[in-house]
Amino acid sequence: MAGQTDHALRGNYEGMRADYTVDQNWSAYSAAEHDLWKRLYARQSVLVPKYACDEFIDILGRLNFGAGIPRFDGINAKLYPATRWTLVAVPGLLPDDVFFEHLANRRFPVTVWLRTPEEFDYIVEPDIFHDFFGHVPLLFNPVFADYLEAYGKGGVKAKGLNALDYLARLYWYTVEFGLIRTNKGLRTYGAGILSSGGELPYCIESDKPHRIRFDLLRVMQSNYKIDTFQETYFVIDSFRELFDATAPDFTPYYQTLRTRPDIAANGLIAADELIASAGAH
Ligand code: PHE
Ligand code: FE
Repeated sequence: MAGQTDHALRGNYEGMRADYTVDQNWSAYSAAEHDLWKRLYARQSVLVPKYACDEFIDILGRLNFGAGIPRFDGINAKLYPATRWTLVAVPGLLPDDVFFEHLANRRFPVTVWLRTPEEFDYIVEPDIFHDFFGHVPLLFNPVFADYLEAYGKGGVKAKGLNALDYLARLYWYTVEFGLIRTNKGLRTYGAGILSSGGELPYCIESDKPHRIRFDLLRVMQSNYKIDTFQETYFVIDSFRELFDATAPDFTPYYQTLRTRPDIAANGLIAADELIASAGAH
């Protein structure tokens, strides 16, 4: 996930570089941490074939990083040739402008620390498992990779226009919690879901949340919850659709949004096109 929190950040921010990067220091991970990684990976990887989009499934299978905490260098040797992205190690959450600057230059920040065993099911801040398992596979997809770079550039611009709250919602409802329609039915490409044992089945099977056809302004108008499963998911048809819908200059969109009230995380409006869940037939 991205963005700032209002509580003290958990990672060790001492000794980092000016761009907030650090060395991964892979040899410092303990055997217990590698084992916890293996258990987290095992839980998610059995759910993925049923609930993740094919792009994610295919790359996860090829990367095969379930045996222990991966080395960023090893992944970069495959990632850079594939899409010209690079993973950089960071202590934890980053200031918005630092985060955008990395994305705009095709660098994906990955937190170095792993959650504790007590946080197996639930964690408040993004750790290495969320950042890596959830985000890294789709960096191998050329269209998604371009979308993330464009998002980073859009972030720098939105900051100047005082529109970060709007743009952050787009990240939340796509990169973190997005759903996609496929020929196998509804699937997810969102990292916040893909790294969650509970929300991965929930987002597809439950009939509680709203699933609404993606609409850019609708998304940026919508509040979201950070401490429960999502009450609304937005559904795209393809990464190309997402890329194309977000290509125009957002400056007039932000002006329009300022004239409209926010929509609650569980709200619906007349224009919403609802999409049935896997459970409802
Ligand atoms: N086109 C957007 C703008 O002009 C930038 C952007 C691209 C934002 C992709 C989000 C995702 O601000
Ligand atoms: Fe994330």
